[in-house]
Amino acid sequence: MSSLFSLLALPAVALATFTVNDPSDVIPPSDWAADNAIVPDYNTPFISVQPSDILAAYVFENGSTTVSHNTFTVDANDTSVILVADGADLGLSHVDVVKYGYSSNLLQASFYGFNAAINVANASTATIKNTNITVHNGAANVYAYGTDTVVYVDNSWLYSSGPVSHGLYASGNGTIIGRNLQHYSGGHRSSSFSGDSPKGDVFVYDSVAHSSGIGSATYYALGTIYAENVLSRSDNGPVVFMDGTQNATLINCDATAGLLGGVAIFSSAVRTSGATLTLRDTKITTLGDTMPGLWFGNTIIDVTLENAQLVTSSGVLVVANYSQITQDFDYYASYADNSALQPAEVSMTVKASTLTGDLVAYNGSSISWTLNDYSTWTGAAYSGYGDVSFDVALDRHSTWTLANTTTVQNLTDSDSTLSNIVGNGYTLYYNASAVLSQWLNGTTVSLTGGGSAQPI
Ligand SMILES: *[C@@H]1O[C@H](CO)[C@@H](O)[C@H](O)[C@H]1NC(C)=O
Ligand SMILES: *[C@@H]1O[C@H](CO)[C@@H](O)[C@H](O)[C@H]1NC(C)=O
Ligand SMILES: *[C@@H]1O[C@H](CO)[C@@H](O)[C@H](O)[C@H]1NC(C)=O
Ligand SMILES: *[C@@H]1O[C@H](CO)[C@@H](O)[C@H](O)[C@H]1NC(C)=O
Ligand SMILES: *[C@@H]1O[C@H](CO)[C@@H](O)[C@H](O)[C@H]1NC(C)=O
Ligand SMILES: *[C@@H]1O[C@H](CO)[C@@H](O)[C@H](O)[C@H]1NC(C)=O
Ligand SMILES: *[C@@H]1O[C@H](CO)[C@@H](O)[C@H](O)[C@H]1NC(C)=O
Ligand SMILES: *[C@@H]1O[C@H](CO)[C@@H](O)[C@H](O)[C@H]1NC(C)=O
Ligand SMILES: *[C@@H]1O[C@H](CO)[C@@H](O)[C@H](O)[C@H]1NC(C)=O
Ligand SMILES: *[C@@H]1O[C@H](CO)[C@@H](O)[C@H](O)[C@H]1NC(C)=O
Ligand SMILES: *[C@@H]1O[C@H](CO)[C@@H](O)[C@H](O)[C@H]1NC(C)=O
Ligand SMILES: *[C@@H]1O[C@H](CO)[C@@H](O)[C@H](O)[C@H]1NC(C)=O
Repeated sequence: MSSLFSLLALPAVALATFTVNDPSDVIPPSDWAADNAIVPDYNTPFISVQPSDILAAYVFENGSTTVSHNTFTVDANDTSVILVADGADLGLSHVDVVKYGYSSNLLQASFYGFNAAINVANASTATIKNTNITVHNGAANVYAYGTDTVVYVDNSWLYSSGPVSHGLYASGNGTIIGRNLQHYSGGHRSSSFSGDSPKGDVFVYDSVAHSSGIGSATYYALGTIYAENVLSRSDNGPVVFMDGTQNATLINCDATAGLLGGVAIFSSAVRTSGATLTLRDTKITTLGDTMPGLWFGNTIIDVTLENAQLVTSSGVLVVANYSQITQDFDYYASYADNSALQPAEVSMTVKASTLTGDLVAYNGSSISWTLNDYSTWTGAAYSGYGDVSFDVALDRHSTWTLANTTTVQNLTDSDSTLSNIVGNGYTLYYNASAVLSQWLNGTTVSLTGGGSAQPI
């Protein structure tokens, strides 16, 4: 898929397309279609602590070891190529790691790194440089488990086929820091950069990432996600999945999403509060005709967009819904899946950004939308279903151009004449009793371009 990433520059007379390669250009996913068709079975026995009998062909458990210019390989189920444990330290450079073999227990693979090509556990550390980690049949490339486990992966190639084959995968408080990576995964539930329960922190810089399977995002936040200068594409997932109260920050990233939403952020059980998402100098493009730029369900979250772009063909910038994403990862769930669902409450601060598209809330959900620092928004806000609530606030250097009639609760504007709200002939209804709308004294204010702001 060499036409994968097209960076289009559109000057007046010339059209230039630059192609960025990822590992799927070298090992075609079609060669491994059977692996990539495996749908993970999660009805397997769960064990509550990481067992010490993680099988691996090469075990480093004693002190510090460095290895360069070597090849490590294994072809066995539920068996890692390399295990680093008991506080050991491993340095790899110019190494090839080749792994075959299936996972018979995908919970153990997810929570403890069984079958991962490289599994670093229990306050151990690893520095992996100039290394090629190619796996088939379903295996994470690099797994980090345990408090004080820290793994650095630099200048490396990460390829996988098969399910639950995340590129960088951290759990049990482990941390992975990746730089200059090229990643491709073809299987289901194989995000490029992923944390898992209870928490794993993943930092990634200057990398290219491509995931193809359903349930595979570029980033899966269970713990901290921090990304800088990453060009990515998730063919059948969002850029970010986040479950619960996590923190994801994308700086100077260019990311494309093919399913659900540009981000799909939710609580998978009871609604939680305190999640954060920051997109700075970052562009998210969604491919599907109905995909929103940002999707939130059953969560309470603060979002900051700073010099951010959301490019959608749906015309929907943000959805707040009483919904979540299930383990199938391919639809917006209803009460049939989780009877405890609650509305999403989304607080967004937009800085120095130009955004076009609508805000849509469902059944009790709310979006609070603040435009600061020379932001401009062209769009409307409306209910997808039931009673919903929108608050809009503008500083004096930001502008809102209405694209339809809109009803808000709180309307705050540092320009008390509302001259920075362009009506375009539409009516902006506000709730004169809402705390932050009371300053308008229930008056009707004419808007530039026609239309007016008036009490409900
Ligand atoms: C990590 O430590 C825990 C707690 O001591 C232990 O249960 C587990 O077996 C250890 N894991 C490995 C891979 O040695
Ligand atoms: C650990 O390494 C030290 C120093 O090389 C060695 O003396 C000791 O036998 C090793 N222990 C094990 C269990 O391999
Ligand atoms: C490895 O797993 C595959 C897929 O589940 C299975 O077909 C095969 O029999 C297993 N091999 C062994 C040696 O257990
Ligand atoms: C990594 O290894 C795979 C499998 O051996 C190979 O096909 C690929 O070309 C290698 N990638 C690089 C960048 O060397
Ligand atoms: C992760 O951190 C929590 C909170 O500090 C701690 O309770 C838990 O034991 C840690 N888990 C591991 C696997 O280190
Ligand atoms: C989220 O992570 C960013 C970057 O690491 C950090 O600056 C910010 O303080 C974090 N926010 C929260 C609420 O933890
Ligand atoms: C909203 O949530 C409902 C279920 O609660 C679901 O049926 C619907 O598809 C969702 N729509 C969007 C756009 O999220
Ligand atoms: C809307 O939310 C309420 C709870 O606030 C719930 O009882 C109702 O079933 C929801 N509507 C639909 C269509 O799901
Ligand atoms: C404006 O909203 C109305 C009512 O929801 C809808 O029928 C119409 O298509 C919208 N117009 C535009 C331009 O989006
Ligand atoms: C207006 O705001 C008041 C005060 O918060 C609230 O009680 C009322 O229900 C709101 N009215 C509408 C129509 O949303
Ligand atoms: C308006 O904003 C205030 C202050 O943030 C908040 O308490 C209130 O719930 C919002 N909505 C209404 C309808 O007043
Ligand atoms: C609302 O009334 C107060 C007090 O009379 C006045 O100072 C203020 O300018 C009025 N606001 C608007 C938007 O007319």
